[in-house]
Amino acid sequence: MAEVIIVPSADEAGALVADEIIALIAAKPSAVLGLATGSTPLPVYRALASRRDEMDLSSVSAFALDEYVGLPVTHAESYRSVITREVVEPLGLKPSRVHVPNGALETIEHAGEDYEAAIEEAGGIDLQILGIGTDGHIGFNEPGSSFASRTRVKTLTAQTRRDNARFFASEDEVPMHCITQGLGTIQSARHLVLLAFGSGKARAVAGAVEGPVTASLPGSALQLHRRATVIVDEEAAAELANADYYRHAYANKPSWQGL
Ligand code: PGA
Repeated sequence: MAEVIIVPSADEAGALVADEIIALIAAKPSAVLGLATGSTPLPVYRALASRRDEMDLSSVSAFALDEYVGLPVTHAESYRSVITREVVEPLGLKPSRVHVPNGALETIEHAGEDYEAAIEEAGGIDLQILGIGTDGHIGFNEPGSSFASRTRVKTLTAQTRRDNARFFASEDEVPMHCITQGLGTIQSARHLVLLAFGSGKARAVAGAVEGPVTASLPGSALQLHRRATVIVDEEAAAELANADYYRHAYANKPSWQGL
């Protein structure tokens, strides 16, 4: 099962993940990071930006999970723009080493295959940061996504478009389609780190960690991964039946183990 760590605050989660990423880059200067967008990973990026001088990022590459289809990359809410603003610039990553799926309509038919090939050429993703949607999605793999899926176009659920309307002038402006790493792509990353904060995520987190493994709750794919870490605040942990055990295990975690 995934290791579950319950922390007092999102900032504390950000600091823990930053520690792990800094250690990864020290051990492997050409590390490949998997980046997520949305509100959830921001504390990680902030913690990393404040510790820039502890890392040599010159050989690090990164792959984003997903992108909207048909939204110009120059749009402020394209995930290319978000990743540039929230990660590439504050950390000083080399822009040419940071990849986002290509949502341009002209090339969309082979954009998924192209992205898979680029990940493979980079040697695979070492650490994939994940958020989880209120409907249980990871990346933009909505309920029903195949566990074997690779990067491809998906249709967003009404719930996801409602959740993301806060980034746009209205819900109608949220694109209908996206291109996302598949659950199979995500499973291929060597370490998964899923973060969730706030009571709105409690049901999805409990389903992902403790519910049946089912395509109806894509986050439950984490239960099949050899190295998955779930870091949540108290609110997001509220529906976990085994929360006391997770606290006990973390309090007694061997000091030599990282995340
Ligand atoms: P959020 O989105 O981080 O903005 O809550 C998470 C997700 O949809 O995966």
